[in-house]
Amino acid sequence: MSNTILVGAQWGDEGKGKIIDVLTEQADVVVRTQGGNNAGHTVFLGKQKYVLHLIPSGILRKKKTCVIGNGVVVDPIGLVGEIEGLRKLGIKVSDNLFVSETAHIVFPYHRELDAQREVLKGKNKIGTTKRGIGPAYGDKAARVGLRMIDLINADRFEERLRIKITENNEVLKAFGAKPLSFKDVHAAYRQAGDYLRPFVTNTVVLLHHAVRRGDDILFEGAQGTFLDIDHGTYPYVTSSNTTAGGACTGSGVAPNRMDRVVGVMKAYTTRVGEGPLPTENAEIADMLHAMGREFGATTGRPRRCGWFDSVATRHATMVNGIDDLAITNIDGLDSLETIKVCIGYRDGRKRYDYVPNDVELLARCEPVYAEFPGWRTPTHNARKYKDLPAKTRSYLKAISELTGAKLFIASVGPGRDQTIFV
Ligand code: GDP
Ligand code: IMO
Ligand code: MG
Repeated sequence: MSNTILVGAQWGDEGKGKIIDVLTEQADVVVRTQGGNNAGHTVFLGKQKYVLHLIPSGILRKKKTCVIGNGVVVDPIGLVGEIEGLRKLGIKVSDNLFVSETAHIVFPYHRELDAQREVLKGKNKIGTTKRGIGPAYGDKAARVGLRMIDLINADRFEERLRIKITENNEVLKAFGAKPLSFKDVHAAYRQAGDYLRPFVTNTVVLLHHAVRRGDDILFEGAQGTFLDIDHGTYPYVTSSNTTAGGACTGSGVAPNRMDRVVGVMKAYTTRVGEGPLPTENAEIADMLHAMGREFGATTGRPRRCGWFDSVATRHATMVNGIDDLAITNIDGLDSLETIKVCIGYRDGRKRYDYVPNDVELLARCEPVYAEFPGWRTPTHNARKYKDLPAKTRSYLKAISELTGAKLFIASVGPGRDQTIFV
């Protein structure tokens, strides 16, 4: 299958987990390269639902190597919980999982600072997942973070954690928040460190060997293009590079070893958290929520919903170099009479065919829509492209062309079998 980077082409939750699970059948190694347990990747195997936060979605298939790369921020307690949860459901997690020594650690003070900063921002809050992601990446960039290699070295860890807790307690006090007990944090993290020690390794060397062997590697993106720290709707973004480049820096696998980029996008648009969403539409949100869909996999928050935004996905093709598209949740539009697609933005008399960088301007922009006839037929039983109604095929063709990449997968349900290779 070759080395494939899979990214979200919208605001996250595009169905990456499902598509990764499907593509893992042909892969040897699956790697997470950025983000942390802010991610929630859902996979259904039959009726059983699995939500992966830090562990690559490839873990659900036998005999696949899964790697948490150096670019990820790891909450060790969360990771232990996730491993235990999967084991309880009968999934093997042992010598098939590797965690980078140089991945940075998320601590309780990161989570607390994340929450406190949101409170301070008031109505300008980002709407984070409160998993401590921003402060953890902040420490990494400020060169004051602790890494997995520190966690598994007991003496070093105790000394460094003591300094970190002392320093961060001063900051927490300034916010009016409760200081943390070094003893409690140390005990919990030491226990998690002991549990995780067998998984921690030099994943750059491991991946290099995989590349040399000719293994097929799948890079599992988390979040989505418009949550990228550089290319997203800053400051309403996450704190990592969610775009294709992040797969290289977050794994240590060089750009010239990558063969293709798959962009995952919904047949409509969703966003969870604050920030501009030009095609937001209350009726679509109500329709999808009434179907029991579009609630966050990590926080349970209802997702904001809107029409498909081809200005955004075209931008995503540009910054990620998307070759192939996986379009998910097509079945979500089954009942609509008319389907709108955003083909441009308008601010007063000015028109944009790209995503403006100024979020205030973007928030002001009105979408310019093209309309497509709905197919008004259930699609969830389609197994081949020709099983789809002609109007569905026309819609998929149009949004792929507008996005500027080739239609590769059409997904009509959460299950593995509800996947059409085009
Ligand atoms: P991720 O973060 O990109 O992995 O996406 P999430 O798991 O957070 O959200 C995607 C949701 O859509 C999950 O509940 C999936 O089970 C579901 N899903 C994925 N593809 C399809 C599809 O084609 N149809 C339907 N009905 N659900 C889908
Ligand atoms: P997956 O991998 C959707 C959003 C949050 C918030 C912003 C910053 O499941 O697609 P953070 O906690 O990262 O500091 O929050 O980013 N966000 C996501 N939205 N899917 C995700 O991951 C997300 N991870 C973070 O809602 O708006
Ligand atoms: Mg998700």
